[in-house]
Amino acid sequence: MQFKTLFLTLIPAAMAHFHLTYPLWRADSLALATNNQSISQWFYPCAGIGQETSANNRTAWPLDGGSVVWNSSHPDALTTINLGLGAAVTTFNISLIPMYNETGAGQTCLSKVGQSKLSPLNITDGTQASIQVITISSTGAALYNCADIVFRKNATVLDSGSCKNDTGVSGSAIVNANAGNSSEGSGSSGNSTTKGSGAIKGSVPVAALFAAVGAGMYASL
Ligand SMILES: *[C@@H]1O[C@H](CO)[C@@H](O)[C@H](O)[C@H]1NC(C)=O
Ligand SMILES: *[C@@H]1O[C@H](CO)[C@@H](O)[C@H](O)[C@H]1NC(C)=O
Ligand SMILES: *[C@@H]1O[C@H](CO)[C@@H](O)[C@H](O)[C@H]1NC(C)=O
Ligand SMILES: *[C@@H]1O[C@H](CO)[C@@H](O)[C@H](O)[C@H]1NC(C)=O
Ligand SMILES: *[C@@H]1O[C@H](CO)[C@@H](O)[C@H](O)[C@H]1NC(C)=O
Ligand SMILES: *[C@@H]1O[C@H](CO)[C@@H](O)[C@H](O)[C@H]1NC(C)=O
Ligand SMILES: *[C@@H]1O[C@H](CO)[C@@H](O)[C@H](O)[C@H]1NC(C)=O
Ligand SMILES: *[C@@H]1O[C@H](CO)[C@@H](O)[C@H](O)[C@H]1NC(C)=O
Ligand SMILES: *[C@@H]1O[C@H](CO)[C@@H](O)[C@H](O)[C@H]1NC(C)=O
Ligand SMILES: *[C@@H]1O[C@H](CO)[C@@H](O)[C@H](O)[C@H]1NC(C)=O
Repeated sequence: MQFKTLFLTLIPAAMAHFHLTYPLWRADSLALATNNQSISQWFYPCAGIGQETSANNRTAWPLDGGSVVWNSSHPDALTTINLGLGAAVTTFNISLIPMYNETGAGQTCLSKVGQSKLSPLNITDGTQASIQVITISSTGAALYNCADIVFRKNATVLDSGSCKNDTGVSGSAIVNANAGNSSEGSGSSGNSTTKGSGAIKGSVPVAALFAAVGAGMYASL
């Protein structure tokens, strides 16, 4: 009985992980971690997996942004997607989406990621890049996975048959630490360091978040 309780308590922490299913990830970081101590999804920036593992097998992505699909075991996780340009990326310094609170375990598909960020860069056919997906659990620990891509004029986003969210998967704006503190006043967003997103309280659809926050956030980067 006691063992059973302990077992059930430990499972979520031990199994905490996510699969990056599209674009094709560099390697199955979860499987490799079981017998290689230099590989773990806890390791920045790409779970310990080098870019060379998939350099010759890059997923073709549309010039103005493509689909990203991952499958998380967390009931909620602050999630963001970054990009680095080049054949051998060391800096993932282009944030494709504002970090948001992904809720519900299971598969998330974002159909077209990064359009407003990529368009001004005039990406050309054949440009190589790498994508980094980060999920941060409520404990504050971050998990990483990366995928290597090549921008192609003829690439498309996933069709609606492949781009699906599991039931119960959703997203919301990140709630301010001070949210709900009435002495802060309802007209003020408190002292948020992220311009724009700090003003959003409570739960809003992620699409709305992107629309509302996107412009301001990109402008301030
Ligand atoms: C462990 O992974 C690292 C990084 O991918 C790799 O260089 C190394 O060869 C692997 N070691 C074993 C024993 O597979
Ligand atoms: C290359 O990518 C495709 C999917 O895009 C995958 O099915 C295939 O297994 C990959 N090949 C290697 C050698 O990783
Ligand atoms: C991103 O990093 C690369 C490599 O360090 C650098 O060349 C580029 O200027 C950086 N871009 C931005 C927007 O900071
Ligand atoms: C996705 O995650 C859910 C919940 O953790 C799990 O039941 C399912 O098997 C996963 N699917 C894949 C393809 O990893
Ligand atoms: C992209 O193209 C536009 C229009 O030609 C130009 O104004 C802009 O400077 C270009 N941006 C970059 C990053 O090259
Ligand atoms: C897209 O363009 C690339 C490079 O020109 C080519 O190798 C590939 O076959 C094309 N794919 C499709 C689906 O047309
Ligand atoms: C999946 O959920 C996210 C977060 O709510 C949302 O932005 C996205 O549009 C959804 N994807 C699909 C295919 O509905
Ligand atoms: C994220 O969502 C979960 C589930 O609704 C909630 O418990 C958590 O406080 C949220 N985290 C943040 C930082 O908004
Ligand atoms: C609410 O905010 C005020 C002013 O910042 C602070 O003094 C107070 O401790 C906060 N209360 C809670 C419950 O966080
Ligand atoms: C908000 O930030 C400003 C500038 O950093 C600071 O002067 C002010 O005291 C802060 N207000 C609160 C309530 O923390």
